[in-house]
Amino acid sequence: MKVLVYSAKEFEIPYLKTANNNKHQLTFINDALSSKTAMLSVGFDAISIFSADEACFITIEKLKDFGIKYIGLRSVGHDNVNLRAALRLNIKVANVPAYSPYAIAEHATALLLAINRKIIASNWRVKQYNFNLNNLVGFDLNKKTVGIIGTGKIGNVMCKIMNGFGCNLLGYDIEEDEDLRNHYNVNYTSLEDLCEKSDIISLHVPLNTDTHQLINEDLISNMKDGVIIINTARGSILNTEHIIDGLRSGKIGALGIDVYENEKEIFFKDHSLDIPDDDILMRLNSFPNVLITGHHAFLTEEALTNIAETTIHNFNCWSKGEETENELTNLIESV
Ligand code: NAI
Repeated sequence: MKVLVYSAKEFEIPYLKTANNNKHQLTFINDALSSKTAMLSVGFDAISIFSADEACFITIEKLKDFGIKYIGLRSVGHDNVNLRAALRLNIKVANVPAYSPYAIAEHATALLLAINRKIIASNWRVKQYNFNLNNLVGFDLNKKTVGIIGTGKIGNVMCKIMNGFGCNLLGYDIEEDEDLRNHYNVNYTSLEDLCEKSDIISLHVPLNTDTHQLINEDLISNMKDGVIIINTARGSILNTEHIIDGLRSGKIGALGIDVYENEKEIFFKDHSLDIPDDDILMRLNSFPNVLITGHHAFLTEEALTNIAETTIHNFNCWSKGEETENELTNLIESV
């Protein structure tokens, strides 16, 4: 199968080549998929895309015209693909439904520890041989209440890590996990109650119409003063303007994010010589108590291996004329 790999990053290409083992003809390009770059897929059977690629209705129509039959996502999240359009045009779409959830949960923990214990600020001082400790006070995680929003694969690991730190755990999910409740002391509650009682809130829900801007000013106004919010899920799950208001007023004590609502045009590229004209990002970056990483929670050897192997597995199934168990177009009803 001839596959065009959009948004191919230097760090993932070796993993994809190893998993592929010369089976498929992979062509790697830097460009992200959009309605403008869809034409690059002429002559290919399939494309592979990542979270910053945009497979909207118009793009999918173009892909169909150019002969694309399959789209293999190298991500869990698929909010960037119009699945109904793909289904209608008979383009099969599959994702990587699970890859090391430890990578993401451990990154969320890293953000939490770094922002709470002011590790970045401390290290900057040490680089300048300034060993003054003023304004570096954090708090113990032990016995603090952590609210986990979304207790699926990643949220599950996050609960277990936080349980290991001796935290009290509150969970919110549309499907409750009995094992977490029975063995890790997770108390499921409403979203409102979780937000009111938590010292730390970590987000692990997918982005969909129900979770879009889930964390807004109503919930923030009832949070504990100084709450720490960690988001490694998707940027638009937060209403970022409301978060900035919360940071400004001191209601939110700190924010650690690996995802940002306008990241599509910005993340995964070096913009150091053309600083993005993005007012929200600039304001977020201006707070000392905001720690941002550029969507790299998945960046572990284990996760990259899982992603590459499942991506190639999806193409293997399709090239044999078989379905893959990861097909997203099977999940939605025919239109
Ligand atoms: P998952 O599907 O295992 O878990 C998601 C959980 O959210 C499920 O338990 C589900 O019941 C719950 N949920 C869905 N809609 C909800 C709603 N409206 N209200 C409450 N709960 C709801 O997914 P997984 O693997 O844990 O991933 C979660 C998200 O993390 C992904 O959708 C993706 O957006 C993000 N992610 C971010 C990465 C990064 O590098 N920063 C890498 C991988 C995933």
